[in-house]
Amino acid sequence: MNVVTPPPGDELQSLLETVYRRGLDHRNGALADYIPELARVEPDSFGIAIATARGRVYSVGDARIEFTIQSVSKAFAYCLAVEQVGRDQVARRVGVEPSGDAFNAIEFDPHTRRPYNPMVNAGAITVAGILHDRLGAGAFDFLMDRFSRAAGRTLGFDEKVYRSEAETGHRNRAIAHLLLAGGIISNAVDAIVDLYFRQCSILVTAADLARMGATLANMGENPATDDQVFDLQAVRDTQAVMLSCGMYDYSGNWIYDIGIPAKSGVGGGIVGVVNRQLGIGTYSPRLDHKGNSVRGVAAMAALSDELGLHAFECTNIGSSLLDRFLS
Ligand code: DON
Repeated sequence: MNVVTPPPGDELQSLLETVYRRGLDHRNGALADYIPELARVEPDSFGIAIATARGRVYSVGDARIEFTIQSVSKAFAYCLAVEQVGRDQVARRVGVEPSGDAFNAIEFDPHTRRPYNPMVNAGAITVAGILHDRLGAGAFDFLMDRFSRAAGRTLGFDEKVYRSEAETGHRNRAIAHLLLAGGIISNAVDAIVDLYFRQCSILVTAADLARMGATLANMGENPATDDQVFDLQAVRDTQAVMLSCGMYDYSGNWIYDIGIPAKSGVGGGIVGVVNRQLGIGTYSPRLDHKGNSVRGVAAMAALSDELGLHAFECTNIGSSLLDRFLS
């Protein structure tokens, strides 16, 4: 791995520290507790990491604390489904339209009966169905291998969170049965839901999320290991869906204010991708009422502003600053 430790006093590192200190002022939000085991984390943990598309990693705070990836997995699983069966096959079963509703909403496109997009639970369970149909019992190991290669290390798995969700995930099971009734997934419902629960229980850190984001930003190649982890076309599709749907019913505000393709999870993580430039990972488990990390959203907003990372930033102030860190 050619990860370079930034020199002390580096400008990007001190910006991260400022953003971190400002983020600490946010003391609102609550831990997700609908999966009982998720409520057993330190509520005030907070970490931010940035990985450049050239393999440098900067971090601050609790960027090395492990937590479950939860819905952040949906973006990477979608990328792999597009690679495995092609975008047309995926599009037959799940749309790319923001739903404007909560992540666990029980709703389908009235015309096509497809879930609205792969970032809400119904769409993500459909993606798990595609991967299960294609890869069978090997589907979870396949996801684990690719997620690990994107992060540049072997990721762990939280057995307790997995069991907790498997014991309590009745709403997701209900969604899966409706998907079966609509002809969207095959009748291997239990195995498909199990794959979805398992992918949500993969352990990551904010630094891992930054590296995984940087792998997407770097055209699917992990910039620290030179490993081609994701398919190029799938990376484009994934970033597009992350931008339009990654933050659930906050997605419109997110595009307007922050403008970075991103995906959040109820474990408290957010991954952001600045195409060809950066991956950003944040961790803070207190969530707002839409299920997004309060401090994570604040940190992403501050970084977007300070570095000019918004996708439609007309002055493009960020690029010249970032160029210095990328070379
Ligand atoms: O479906 C669930 O309940 C979780 N395993 C994942 C949900 C999630 O992370 C939604 N994110 N905000």
